[in-house]
Amino acid sequence: MDTIISNSPEETLHIGTALAADLRGGEILALCGDLGAGKTHFAKGIVSGLGGDAEDVTSPTFTLVHEYPGCRLPVFHFDFYRLEAESELRNIGWDDYLREDGVLLIEWAERFPDAFPPSTRFIHFEITSENGRLLHFS
Ligand SMILES: Nc1ncnc2c1ncn2[C@@H]1O[C@H](COP(=O)(O)OP(=O)(O)O)[C@@H](O)[C@H]1O
Ligand SMILES: [Mg+2]
Repeated sequence: MDTIISNSPEETLHIGTALAADLRGGEILALCGDLGAGKTHFAKGIVSGLGGDAEDVTSPTFTLVHEYPGCRLPVFHFDFYRLEAESELRNIGWDDYLREDGVLLIEWAERFPDAFPPSTRFIHFEITSENGRLLHFS
């Protein structure tokens, strides 16, 4: 398991941007960690690295999934925070998203770990201080 240290929101964004260069489509990035841990900043970096605008990226708390224009791959950004039960995933067409050749970014993925295929990359965001974060890649 790799761990990357971030000392600022900008650094977390840049970690996402760097990772975006390796994305080819079909990746599922499950972002886990408490409120304020940096999941959305990382998602901003991914979108920016794929050619989109980081400022478009917000936690899709009420709409459940966001898509972003201008990216070289389709990006589907989810937030499972407000889902009550895994069965609700069926209503949003989760299985269809899993078959997409885009990039899936899921905040609060740890709520429903069983919803993910084995190829999923889990990234755990840990708060270590006001501006310190550890990103654990497993
Ligand atoms: N190293 C860091 N990486 C990411 N965010 C940080 C960092 N240090 C402080 N922060 C702050 O923590 C918050 C992270 O917010 P956000 O990315 O929306 O988290 P999440 O989506 O996990 O709730 C922001 O207010 C940001 O300014
Ligand atoms: Mg968020």
